[in-house]
Amino acid sequence: MPEKERLHRGRLSIRRFRETDWPEVWRILATTFKAGDTYAFPPESSEAEIHTIWVDAPSATYVACAPDGKVLGTYFIKPNQPGLGAHVCNCGYVVAGEAQGRGIATAMCEHSQAEAKGMGFRAMQFNLVVSTNERAIRLWRRLGFAVVGSLPRSFRHLRLGYVDALVMYKELSATETSV
Ligand SMILES: CC(C)(COP(=O)(O)OP(=O)(O)OC[C@H]1O[C@@H](n2cnc3c(N)ncnc32)[C@H](O)[C@@H]1OP(=O)(O)O)[C@@H](O)C(=O)NCCC(=O)NCCS
Repeated sequence: MPEKERLHRGRLSIRRFRETDWPEVWRILATTFKAGDTYAFPPESSEAEIHTIWVDAPSATYVACAPDGKVLGTYFIKPNQPGLGAHVCNCGYVVAGEAQGRGIATAMCEHSQAEAKGMGFRAMQFNLVVSTNERAIRLWRRLGFAVVGSLPRSFRHLRLGYVDALVMYKELSATETSV
């Protein structure tokens, strides 16, 4: 990748979502979900439905911004299960098409791991990483996530039909308690 295209870490700021970010976040999410190739959210979901999923339901939502404040990416953190499974979190990440390949998801995922640990989560699980989403799989592997399972034909890809999806998992804390 040419040096000029790189987005240096220090120039990207990642912060909590504010309601005034929503129009930019929605634009990024709507394009991604309509494509129907990476997330299971119905491609025809309304803006209000996606707001509930991305902003209202999670424990926290974040945006990654360029120096001029433009939103380039977003992610959420939420417990993956209730109660006795609530120490494992789940995150979803989306980067604007024009900003991909510049390290933004890498920075957001590293940020999310630190945030998740701070919230008391002990592990992070991705439930449905579409097997054809090679960039994401390579990226999560590089950041220490293991493929712990493959779910045959569990994702109905809008262009390719039924394809496998992976479950990926990373423990965030080596500290063990045995109670
Ligand atoms: C998957 C997705 C989140 C990746 O986001 P991204 O910002 O493009 O990811 P990154 O730039 O951090 O990493 C992607 C590549 O850029 C490279 N990269 C990382 N940091 C870099 C930097 N500072 N400069 C240049 N390249 C860099 C990485 O090595 C990686 O290369 P690879 O494709 O050869 O593995 C993005 O493509 C996306 O939003 N897709 C649609 C939604 C989606 O699939 N979400 C994940 C669902 S599991």
